[in-house]
Amino acid sequence: MTRIPVWMDCDTGTDDAVAIMLAHKLEEIDLLGISTVCGNTVQDNSFLNTHRINELMGTAYPVYRGAEKPLCIPLVTAEYVHGVNGLGDVELPLPKNMEVRQESAWDALYACAKEHPHELRLVPTGPLTNIAIAFTKYPDLPGLLHSITLMGGSAGPGNITPAAEFNIFADPQAADIVFRCGAPIVMCGLDVTTQAYFEMEDLDEMAATGSKAAVFVKAILMHSYKVLAKYGVKGFCMHDSCPVMYLAHPELFAGEEAGVAVETRGTITNGKTVTDLYSDKQFPFTNALVILKVDREKFIRILKSAILSI
Ligand code: RIB
Ligand code: CA
Repeated sequence: MTRIPVWMDCDTGTDDAVAIMLAHKLEEIDLLGISTVCGNTVQDNSFLNTHRINELMGTAYPVYRGAEKPLCIPLVTAEYVHGVNGLGDVELPLPKNMEVRQESAWDALYACAKEHPHELRLVPTGPLTNIAIAFTKYPDLPGLLHSITLMGGSAGPGNITPAAEFNIFADPQAADIVFRCGAPIVMCGLDVTTQAYFEMEDLDEMAATGSKAAVFVKAILMHSYKVLAKYGVKGFCMHDSCPVMYLAHPELFAGEEAGVAVETRGTITNGKTVTDLYSDKQFPFTNALVILKVDREKFIRILKSAILSI
């Protein structure tokens, strides 16, 4: 099997952690590197948490530190969902011999894209700050990538405001740069990621096996349980696993090509990904495949299997 070269950019948080585990275990995926961005939590936590996930999995995926703050707005975190430490305030040890790489996220991503011209799949699962910096410093980078398959945005309602999804809202200017970059984009927004959820029974069933990874996943997700129940959110949405799963199993998903633009000056709608999916008036461009559906039963079966095999 020809494995798919992948680079993840994460604000390692709870569902980012699960997405990294999935990328590690899917045989179709060749995870070449992980860069970290501020978002769910501050950069220090995103960076160290990603190393912690390496330790949990017994892996040594290269980890590269990225932006400390968004391009031009103050940092907004989601600690109310992911905990102060980004992993549901669950303690997890760092690797004993943690390799701290000095290259920045954007320099390392560019180097990897040049080593895999037109093959590298970029998978951002947090705010798009690092990607925007990379595209600004290296204007030829979008043309070097195979595609960008991201978790972010929504054609429908938001989750951090009624209009906007968190990853886009946290750095709208960065998202605007990315959606205009010209590389093929697959947008896994809330439209599909809210269908890809664990129920409590799923977490209990996995943890009951005694699997270290499953016990950890349940523990880190429990922090959000109390918060999300208050908002009436159904289950534990594995938002960030969607773009990873799409690359290996696109047959589980359905979507439509559309024009997508990011609102960067709104007050009520700031950070909204405006699509022309449902409007008579179309944008004069089509820049993304907007994913709208997933076969939840098969998605959860594959994700459970991946976690239990760590
Ligand atoms: O809106 C969901 C997204 O925001 C996910 O990537 C989650 O990790 C948070 O970053
Ligand atoms: Ca994330």
